[in-house]
Amino acid sequence: MSQLHVADHPLITHKLSIMRNKKTGSKDFRELLEEVGMLMGYELTRDLPLEDVTIETPITKIKAKMIAGKKLAVVPIMRAGLGMVDGLLKLVPVAKVGHIGLYRDPATHQPVEYYCKLPADVEDRMVILIDPMLATGGSAVDSVRLLKKHGCKSIRMMCLVAAPEGVARLQAECPDVDIYTAALDERLNEHAYIVPGLGDAGDRIFGTK
Ligand code: PRP
Ligand code: URA
Repeated sequence: MSQLHVADHPLITHKLSIMRNKKTGSKDFRELLEEVGMLMGYELTRDLPLEDVTIETPITKIKAKMIAGKKLAVVPIMRAGLGMVDGLLKLVPVAKVGHIGLYRDPATHQPVEYYCKLPADVEDRMVILIDPMLATGGSAVDSVRLLKKHGCKSIRMMCLVAAPEGVARLQAECPDVDIYTAALDERLNEHAYIVPGLGDAGDRIFGTK
């Protein structure tokens, strides 16, 4: 069973509360999402393994610690995932970036794939899959399947708001994918929107609708 990590950092919680407010406009929403992307990235990368490397300071030679092993790939699910990418790249500027395009059919709530472009060596990287909203979990599960079809073996899911239904589905269908979220909300409504949630993340970022 995968692990569910709910970030409890006061800065993340505070920024998310501003984002939930329907009076918060797109400019502020975008800026806050990028900031939370960076803070969530800090939580998600806190257990990356370190290795000893020998370096020379201006004073002496030492064994210093640096991040070991797999390199990272950041893969946003479009559109809304794009809003967290720049924050994460501020932390890990050398990460490669892939893109998965999915939209939810408004009637069936099923994800429909329209785009996929991943780094050539994605199978050798730890993938951080990003989508602010984990609602039914359909988009996340399809994205993980797509990543696995391209050979990815190490995947972590980063979101902002998760519904219990989406967490349960992702854990059941992708038990090897740990989930990092800023909040675990109450439930989905009849339109498969997260309650209390923050509305349609893509529309709030890009000012559509
Ligand atoms: C939203 C959101 C997720 C998906 C979550 O995208 O950004 O990708 O819904 O829902 P699920 O867990 O039930 O699959 P949407 O389909 O609205 O597309 P958009 O980002 O292009 O607006
Ligand atoms: N997609 C969103 O953007 N918001 C939700 O609450 C559910 C799916």
